Amino acid sequence: MRSIRIRASREYDVLIGRDASLALGDEIRRVCPDAVKALIVTETNIAPLYLDGIKEVIDEAGLDVSSYVFEAGEKSKNINEIAGMWNQMAEAGFTRTDIVIGLGGGVTTDMAGFAAATFLRGINVIQVPTSLLAMVDAAVGGKTGIDIPKGKNQVGAFWQPALVIEDTAFLKTLPEEVFTEGMGEVTKYAFIMDEKLYSVLEKSGGSITDELLEKIVAACVVDKAGIIEEDENDNGRRQILNFGHTVGHVIERDSGFTKPHGICVAKGMGIIIDASVREGTLDKDEAEKMKDLLKLYKLPVTDEITPAQIAEGAMNDKKKRGSTLSVILVDKIGNAVIRKMTKEEFLKFLSI
Ligand SMILES: NC(=O)c1ccc[n+]([C@@H]2O[C@H](COP(=O)([O-])OP(=O)(O)OC[C@H]3O[C@@H](n4cnc5c(N)ncnc54)[C@H](O)[C@@H]3O)[C@@H](O)[C@H]2O)c1
Ligand SMILES: [Zn+2]
Repeated sequence: MRSIRIRASREYDVLIGRDASLALGDEIRRVCPDAVKALIVTETNIAPLYLDGIKEVIDEAGLDVSSYVFEAGEKSKNINEIAGMWNQMAEAGFTRTDIVIGLGGGVTTDMAGFAAATFLRGINVIQVPTSLLAMVDAAVGGKTGIDIPKGKNQVGAFWQPALVIEDTAFLKTLPEEVFTEGMGEVTKYAFIMDEKLYSVLEKSGGSITDELLEKIVAACVVDKAGIIEEDENDNGRRQILNFGHTVGHVIERDSGFTKPHGICVAKGMGIIIDASVREGTLDKDEAEKMKDLLKLYKLPVTDEITPAQIAEGAMNDKKKRGSTLSVILVDKIGNAVIRKMTKEEFLKFLSI
């Protein structure tokens, strides 16, 4: 099992490995020694697969364990479900030292984190991500939240977990297309900051063994850890994690959230890569290597959306600051740059 230390406003470990979840009981005792009660937050796809096993491990650690199971999917990421969690914890007499456990993909870890951040003004959360995307991104770094009708992730809190346990054995049951979505974020780390990861992904030729998977997940977590250490609250360098997202979010929103996030991010990266080549800030061969990697992992590299639609949509993004956008570009594999652009400049950049 690998252990990666996250040095944010709160320090914690991310444990990664096959069957890492078996250590959950001992780990709870270590990081939350005063916890008496635990609420497992999970959803209808995950519960039949993993809830009993996780409950048993926590029960054996001597905690009084209960669960809150919501309907799987982004539609559930709303305030009503959070209220359901608050009420259940209040009725069960949870105190400040009790804990929430997020068991599931990014939807679950975002919600479990937000419920924990807000209940009694903040109780401990332990994240146990089950999707590739949640392991490499959502469960690490302390961004929690929910959607409102006006937009995704519009309400939330920075709330670092007490611990993250990433059991790569869980990925065996992940549907193939959901795995592919996760690879959208994995390739993003390679492009923005990790040339070595790029080489590993390229060499593997698109097929990933269990051992390699663990290595890849760990590499992404190390990358994210480095960024969080530098810029926990997303005011500077953390923005490079948005590579492909400024465009991707617009495509995602335009589809009424029917197109999956990781797929939209891949399309967004492809669109930015092409524009950078036309602008002359990215070498053509380097761009081809990046797009080949995306294709190797069955990810799309373009979309029929127009530059005008992208520029318009991007101005409504919550990540926007004032009247300028921070657009993330890559000038060579492993190096990202943040460029401030007005809507007009962004439109021009996309239309070159
Ligand atoms: N907080 C952050 O920093 C951050 C970063 C990136 C994404 N996110 C959020 O994460 C969410 C997307 O995450 P996601 O793609 O994991 O979505 P998700 O939680 O909906 O999971 C995707 C699908 O995979 C299923 N699934 C997950 N693990 C499984 C397993 N082991 N076996 C079988 N099925 C499994 C789920 O039931 C679901 O149907 C979005 O809401 C996004 O906003 C948050
Ligand atoms: Zn993303």
